[in-house]
Amino acid sequence: MASGRESNPHHHHEVFSAKNAAHLDTPLRRMIYRPERLAERYVKYGDRVLDFGCGPGFFSREFAQRVGEIGQVWSVDLQEEMLDILKKKLEPEELMSRIRTHQCKPDSIGLPNELHGTFDAVFTIFVVHEVPDPEKLFRELFTLMKPGGTYIYTEPPFIVSGREFRENLALAEEAGFRQVDRFWYFVNRAAVLRKE
Ligand SMILES: C[S@@+](CC[C@H](N)C(=O)[O-])C[C@H]1O[C@@H](n2cnc3c(N)ncnc32)[C@H](O)[C@@H]1O
Repeated sequence: MASGRESNPHHHHEVFSAKNAAHLDTPLRRMIYRPERLAERYVKYGDRVLDFGCGPGFFSREFAQRVGEIGQVWSVDLQEEMLDILKKKLEPEELMSRIRTHQCKPDSIGLPNELHGTFDAVFTIFVVHEVPDPEKLFRELFTLMKPGGTYIYTEPPFIVSGREFRENLALAEEAGFRQVDRFWYFVNRAAVLRKE
């Protein structure tokens, strides 16, 4: 069977450089994406949240606000520099007591086994197109989630075609997720999936 990658050889795109991290946390971006609304909608008080490909923490910040003192956000990124920026920024905002950072490998999340089956909500925001093996990523995310957990997947339209997005959704479904909703996140393709 042809996988998404075979039928689309341009799948893998460059990793967003930490040198440009400042562009990911701007007032304009806040206005456009309203990250606090995304958090309100998909994260509850006390949840354990995974922000995979968190970058400098633009979304992790809102998830941490939302989960409260008893919740936990795991901010995971390939680049240590991104995680350093996140920590420096969110420490003075007193959010680091709710956030754990983890540097992953390009093709493996590598969170400890104790965390398997424990995440209420998982986000991959503008990152799957940078990952070399999305199929493996979806399987790992599925393993990390609690039954009933929600997975939000979004990609920018100028980088990821409708076809590539649909192919990836099919891979996510093969990994066990069920697609429950599609929406436009500003101009970006987005889907809500569930582990049943
Ligand atoms: C375009 S940025 C988006 C950051 C953040 N989600 C946001 O929207 O503000 C993509 C991020 O994904 C990370 N990334 C790229 N490939 C990755 C991989 N294989 N595993 C984990 N993170 C990765 C990059 O280091 C970068 O921080």
